[in-house]
Amino acid sequence: MSDLPAWLAVLPLLGVGLWAWRRIHYPSFWLLLGYPLTAISVRASWRRVALGCGLTKKRQRWWFTTVPGLVASTGIVKVKRRFQRVAVDTKPLMWLPLPTRHGWRVTIHTLEGQTPGDYADAAERLAHSWGVHAIRVSSPGPGRVVLAATMRDPLVTVDQLPPSTDLLKVTVGRLETGKPWVIDFRTVPHWLNAGATQSGKSNLANALIVGLAPQPVALVGIDLKGGVEFTPYAPRLSALATCRDEASRLLDDVVALMLDRMGVCRQAAARNVWQLPPALRPVPVVVLVDELAELYLMADKSEKDEIAKTSTALLRVAQLGRAFGIYLFCCGQRIGSDLGPGVTALRAQCSGRICHRVNDPETATMTLGDLDPAALASARAIAAETPGVAIVAGQDGQWYRARSFYVTEQAAEHAAHTHAHLAPSWGEVTAHLSQHDSSELLDA
Ligand SMILES: Nc1ncnc2c1ncn2[C@@H]1O[C@H](COP(=O)(O)OP(=O)(O)O)[C@@H](O)[C@H]1O
Ligand SMILES: [Mg+2]
Repeated sequence: MSDLPAWLAVLPLLGVGLWAWRRIHYPSFWLLLGYPLTAISVRASWRRVALGCGLTKKRQRWWFTTVPGLVASTGIVKVKRRFQRVAVDTKPLMWLPLPTRHGWRVTIHTLEGQTPGDYADAAERLAHSWGVHAIRVSSPGPGRVVLAATMRDPLVTVDQLPPSTDLLKVTVGRLETGKPWVIDFRTVPHWLNAGATQSGKSNLANALIVGLAPQPVALVGIDLKGGVEFTPYAPRLSALATCRDEASRLLDDVVALMLDRMGVCRQAAARNVWQLPPALRPVPVVVLVDELAELYLMADKSEKDEIAKTSTALLRVAQLGRAFGIYLFCCGQRIGSDLGPGVTALRAQCSGRICHRVNDPETATMTLGDLDPAALASARAIAAETPGVAIVAGQDGQWYRARSFYVTEQAAEHAAHTHAHLAPSWGEVTAHLSQHDSSELLDA
């Protein structure tokens, strides 16, 4: 009896200890305590959850059942146990849940007639049943699906990662899975970055500028909002267009540069600039476009030809740029088919897609259209309180929820000034190759 008060004192202490452990070092808390308890409860609740979410099937099984027998003279019904075939609900076979950085994942064998889509449809119901933030469904092979649960939204706070040192590769944020979000222009050369105002588009462009500024690349800006976004970064930019006229001339230059590089590659029997000997390899060019729609919007009929011209130039860069070291990163609030056929064609060439919070479903559809419908639903569910959160597709054909690191304009401006000496002038970028053309390559 005298032990009781002692126990009562220990309990709150234990509670505080566990709370502190969770606060101080969540990964070890999760691995040693949270995960085992969760795994047990997930396994134990699977029959109920599968039944509730409509993932079970009726199957005929031999089963011992009780059936009413004769009514005895006393009025009591005698029951008999009988071995007979009855229809029972069978649940899909679940393996042992495995811990992940932000939750757990488990492999499930689908029942006959089920597709991964059935599980994707039930994902929200599963998440609510298990009380987790989200369930993502993937299928590693026929007859199997993997359910990945995230306990809390990992994108509420995102910490900075070390910068990537590879050429044309920038770590811009973190994926929901906990892995780094990397934009690698050599794998995915052209990107569309869509989102409403205040959704985090410029923040992502800032992250790119900070990442690319120390690298030996030429950055080119097209900012038809009068240059308000990119002018502060001018020291690190090799060229900047702030009106349609300049943009048109700049894109003409870029196309000429591309054709020039094509000639160099042809003469050196290289398929792309990366196969050229290092001495001949031209500097990669990353073209950043802010407010893409401005390039396509027509104030009056007289602009029609000019728009058609810029649109064709941009499209040519998107079609052929990859092999010749010219890459596109286009940001826009609206990327709709109403902007003209040029946008639709450009979109088809941009395999990298980033969709921040958007106002109209059409922009989400245009940006992510050919992906899984779940990606669209996820894009529409991005909250205004979490700017920088986006749905990303590109690198591996999968889509992810991700959040960019917070990179202020000041940080990007600082990077642009610090690495200003690395910016080749536009004259250098465009002149360099014509020299090669006439001298070294003719000897080769
Ligand atoms: N990844 C992020 N993390 C935290 N805050 C962000 C992030 N991205 C953007 N923000 C905030 O949202 C605001 C709007 O972002 P911005 O990139 O200017 O949006 P947009 O260019 O789409 O209008 C920024 O001022 C910044 O405070
Ligand atoms: Mg902006």
